[in-house]
Formats: sequence, structure tokens, C-alpha cells
Amino acid sequence: MKKVDVVLGLQWGDEGKGKVVDVLTPNYNVIARFQGGPNAGHSLHFGGDKFVLHTVPSGIFRDGAVNIIGNGVVIDPVILADEIAQIEAKGVDVVSRLTISKRAHLILPTHRVLDAASEAAKGKTKIGSTLKGIGPAYMDKTGRNGLRVGDILLPDFMERYEQLKTKHLFQLRQYDYVYDIDNYEKEWFAGIEQLRRFRFVDSEMVVNGYIADDVSILAEGAQGSLLDIDFGTYPYVTSSNTLCAGVCTGLGVAPTRIGNVYGIFKAYCTRVGSGPFPTELFDSTGECLRQVGNEFGATTGRPRRCGWLDLVALKYAVTMNGVTDLIMMKSDVLNDFDTIKVAVGYEVNGERIDYFPYESDADITPIYREFEGWNCDICNVRNYDDFPQQFKDYVAFIEQETGVSVKIISVGPDREETIVR
Ligand code: GDP
Ligand code: IMO
Ligand code: MG
Repeated sequence: MKKVDVVLGLQWGDEGKGKVVDVLTPNYNVIARFQGGPNAGHSLHFGGDKFVLHTVPSGIFRDGAVNIIGNGVVIDPVILADEIAQIEAKGVDVVSRLTISKRAHLILPTHRVLDAASEAAKGKTKIGSTLKGIGPAYMDKTGRNGLRVGDILLPDFMERYEQLKTKHLFQLRQYDYVYDIDNYEKEWFAGIEQLRRFRFVDSEMVVNGYIADDVSILAEGAQGSLLDIDFGTYPYVTSSNTLCAGVCTGLGVAPTRIGNVYGIFKAYCTRVGSGPFPTELFDSTGECLRQVGNEFGATTGRPRRCGWLDLVALKYAVTMNGVTDLIMMKSDVLNDFDTIKVAVGYEVNGERIDYFPYESDADITPIYREFEGWNCDICNVRNYDDFPQQFKDYVAFIEQETGVSVKIISVGPDREETIVR
């Protein structure tokens, strides 16, 4: 029996999961998303083009790969239909390549309004959500009120929709929030019609059938480990399990069937939205990372907060996911730094700790170790041996601290700008 390999982010999202999945897809028959929804923005660069995927797995552009949207995902039909239209415009036969779990939940127009109203009401303590309705949709899932993709095929789908919408309108009365969903609702039902072109499947049966038949599967994570609903920087997190455990519940894969876990991290660190970020830089160095790394959100366009690599957080994420292989992204962004810093511990209330504290508002001072920068352009390097010694020292230190080897290194956004060791 084949095992399911996993690609997931080890930081606060946007590590480069889309690129890595696209690069690895030729080694797999099936690519499956297991959680999250259109809060994700996964960028792919090839042949001079750029695509940003939100709900569709990042294997969609490769011939022969089956792409599955798993039961753990939440779907906004407007965003998914728009995404599919853009991919089809490139000549890709999406209908033959994409299947959707009947158990995936739908994001209603009123979920988006509830997200926005809740954020507005929170004021300064807002999560900084992507406003895609993710939190409210997952709340209805766990509250056992949600609408699922399979429900689209039921004769009373409209009544179910109206019932849930009525509940939301009632909930919205608690907020002093002005909204108008009429246009979005029209687009939403048009999106539902578009989805009817696709195969709605019991994806857990399909996935386990593939496992039994030795078909290779890659599970694609969204967001990052530090945004996990249980183990992230709560409450500044997303509403799903972004960790490897999410593959089991979000696709129906037994824990014993998990294979390699590819943990992706940037050579530095970013975060978009509110919440703790111990190594965040507020100076010109942070601005330099943002500009050189083009750190602006793929989904919302918001500037990403930038800072040094945080090994305390990275080690936590490696442990929680059982990472077997590390993948370091955006190494080229550090090309022009004389000194590169890495957090190896935290100081909280005068005490040194080496774990992420429970208190999300703790006053954390990172303890840094400094490295000499390589100060040269590594974008054209294609063999590990050709990297400058300073770069190799940086990688070796990360491997030593995490106990996991860095198997892939990315030196640019394009498919080709990738070194596999
Ligand atoms: P994801 O959400 O994890 O898929 O990541 P995003 O697509 O949101 O953000 C990663 C950004 O970095 C995208 O714009 C990618 O095109 C870009 N990118 C990925 N790998 C590299 C790299 O090695 N170097 C540079 N400079 N950019 C990269
Ligand atoms: P990808 O898959 C980065 C962040 C939001 C916010 C918090 C909650 O592209 O890495 P939500 O809309 O989920 O309720 O927002 O999570 N967030 C992400 N940050 N990358 C993402 O996805 C994210 N998805 C959600 O900014 O802080
Ligand atoms: Mg992203």
C-alpha cells in the first residue's frame, strides 16, 4: 500500500506551498487539498505566467494528475467558479482533472458578512481575517448547521439554504453592521450551477481506494502550522487544523497511512493579520525583506509583516507535524544581507524559554544567533555544491537545530528555480 505524502507550511502561511506542490506534482498521481478555503492564496510561476489558486489544488496545471478538494475544505462557489474559469481560459480541461468531496462545507454569502461584522465589532482585537467567511463557515460545521457540497443535489437544497441564511440574518442583528448580499447571492447561485459540472464524490472512499491500489497521493496544506486552531497563536489563528493531523480528518486518511511530511519554511519569516510574531522587524531591515521578497498577500494584497527566521517556532512546528523533510523557500531574498539573524530562544519576564508561550500577549524578546550573509546572487545556482559556504552554514545550522534535513531549496518563484538535494 502506498502512503500519502504531505506538503504543509511551518510558519504563518505563504511559505510557498503552491510552488512546491506544482514542482512535486510530476511525482504523484493525485493532489488533494485537506483544509482551509479561499483564505489561501497559492502562487505558481511557470512559462512566464503567474497563477494564484485559492481552492483548487496546485497540481491542476500538470497533465495526468487528479486533483481533489477534500471534505476538510470550505468552498465559496463564487471564488471557486471564478478560479476554474481562469484556469479553463488557459486551455486546461478542469472538469476532467478536478473532483470535489460531497462532505466539503459551503461558505454562504452570509458567512462572509458574519466574518466582516465580527471583525468590525472586535476593533483593535480583530484577528485580521481574510474576510472570506472562513470562521463562520467552520463554526456552522462544528455547530452541525452547515450546508455541504452533497446537499446541492438534494431536492430541498433551497429550503436548507434559506433556513441557514435566516439563522445568520438573526445572528447579524447583534451587530451594528450595514450589509447588502443581493448581488453576491446571485453570483453565489450562479457559482453553484457551475459546480454542478463537477463530480461530487465520497472523497474518503476515492482516496482510500487509491491508497489500496498503490496510487501516489500528495496532500496539500493551506495556511501554516502557527495558524492551527489548536496549536497556533490562538485566538490569532484560522479555524481549521493546518497541521499534519488535518490530513487524517480532512481527507479520511488513517494516521498509519501518512508517509513523508514535507515541511516548508521561508529562510526568514512573515505573517499577515494580527497576533504574536516575536522576530518581527519594524525597521528598514523588515521593509527590505518586504520589498525584496515582494511580501504582499496573494489573497488580500495586504503588506505582510516580516522578520528573521524563528527556530523556536520552527522546531515546534517540526515536532507537531512529524516533519520528515524540510524545504527552504525564498533563500534568494537574503542575498544582500551582511548579517542574517536567527532566533534560537526567547526571553519572557527575564527568563529564557525555548517554546512558544501560552500567553499570546506575552512580552517576548528573541535571543538571536548571527550569521555572516553570503552577499551574492544565488538565483542561478542549481546544484547544492555551488552554494557559497555562508549559505551552507546557514542550512547546516537549521538542520542541526531541527534534526531534519533540508531536501529542497528554492531560489526564486519559478518552477525551475528549485534545487533538490
Ligand atoms: P503559499 O500560500 O504558501 O502557496 O505562498 P504564496 O503564494 O502566498 O506566497 C509565496 C510567494 O513567494 C509567491 O509570490 C511565490 O511566487 C513566491 N516565491 C515562492 N518561492 C520563492 C522563492 O524561492 N524566491 C522568491 N523570491 N519568491 C518565491
Ligand atoms: P496560505 O494558504 C497567510 C491568516 C489571516 C488571519 C488569520 C485568520 O496562502 O498560506 P481567516 O480568514 O482564516 O479567518 O484568517 O489567518 N491567514 C493566512 N495568512 N496565508 C494564508 O493562507 C492564510 N489564511 C489565513 O491573515 O491572520
Ligand atoms: Mg498564500
